[in-house]
Amino acid sequence: MKPKEILVLGASGQLGRHLLRKLTKKNYKVTALTRNIHTKGYILKSQANAGWLDIVELNKFNYEKLEKIFKNKDICINLIGILNEKNKSSFNNIHSLLPKLLAELSKENRLSQFIHISALGVESAIESKYAKSKLDGENQIKNIFKNYTILKPSIVYSVNDNFTTMLFGILKLLPIFPLYYEGKTVFYPLHVTDMCEIIEKVIEKNLIGETIECIGPEKMSFKKVIESILKTLEIKRFLLPMPISIANIFATLFELIMKNPLITKDQLILLKYDNSPSGKYKTNIDLKLNSEFKYFDREIAKYSYMWKDGGEFAKSKI
Ligand SMILES: NC(=O)c1ccc[n+]([C@@H]2O[C@H](COP(=O)([O-])OP(=O)(O)OC[C@H]3O[C@@H](n4cnc5c(N)ncnc54)[C@H](OP(=O)(O)O)[C@@H]3O)[C@@H](O)[C@H]2O)c1
Repeated sequence: MKPKEILVLGASGQLGRHLLRKLTKKNYKVTALTRNIHTKGYILKSQANAGWLDIVELNKFNYEKLEKIFKNKDICINLIGILNEKNKSSFNNIHSLLPKLLAELSKENRLSQFIHISALGVESAIESKYAKSKLDGENQIKNIFKNYTILKPSIVYSVNDNFTTMLFGILKLLPIFPLYYEGKTVFYPLHVTDMCEIIEKVIEKNLIGETIECIGPEKMSFKKVIESILKTLEIKRFLLPMPISIANIFATLFELIMKNPLITKDQLILLKYDNSPSGKYKTNIDLKLNSEFKYFDREIAKYSYMWKDGGEFAKSKI
């Protein structure tokens, strides 16, 4: 039987590289799109056996070029997302206009499924530009193509993330760490392999016309996340509740001077709202999409040694 052809956008990111391994092992033929084959090709190439992965460079989302790439594809998976706006990469372009274009192309090419990754909790945080653009993207897709599957994850973590790895770095360096909203914001962290299993299952079960909220097994406040990281690193830090007015001054400064700001004003708005299931949609747990879950403390311990004194030699037996 001819293997299903899957087009993956944003394949070099945290979710993408794990997903490529999973999909190609399951005998799906994957075409991975990247903006820069010279810098990302080596990451992508090593994720799959020869013959199961094609890498295509595309740095402008030009309709004609994308139209050619869409020919003969069965499924499209969009993993492209940004946390900060830079130059032409605005939230509106990346989270709203691009998904709209992909939904149109999926319809035109009669794909069996278009899987789009949005984010959990964006309905409540609507004053955030990030949240608004993610929600607009979801609505555009639903209006255009009926074979959609929208997945809305809470924080996704792994050794390749921009979340725990950044926190490890900062907490190791600074004696004091700021807590916004007293660290009470709630998350349901989901390990990247659990998120990839959800994507694999929605393909296998052909779950179309569905919006699914994706959560991990533990409800954790932001403060609990920080405390877990400190415990893993075996260090103590002073956790300082920071008023939002002061946090906004820092965020403005970071945005002015840093290419990848530690925190932005928009992220401060997002942190005001819990990252919890809305109750409006089914979750991965309701749909029994995971065979088992990974747990935060145990997983971060596997890569925390990189930030510990002694590095490799600080590895504890798990
Ligand atoms: N990680 C989380 O905690 C989390 C939580 C909720 C939702 N999500 C969503 O899940 C999706 C995947 O997340 P992830 O953690 O795998 O993201 P990631 O590691 O940041 O990867 C995203 C990929 O998108 C591509 N990309 C980034 N900026 C782009 C731009 N301006 N134009 C075109 N392509 C661009 C990049 O691929 P190339 O450089 O190869 O082009 C990048 O590798 C995103 O939509 C994200 O918003 C993630």
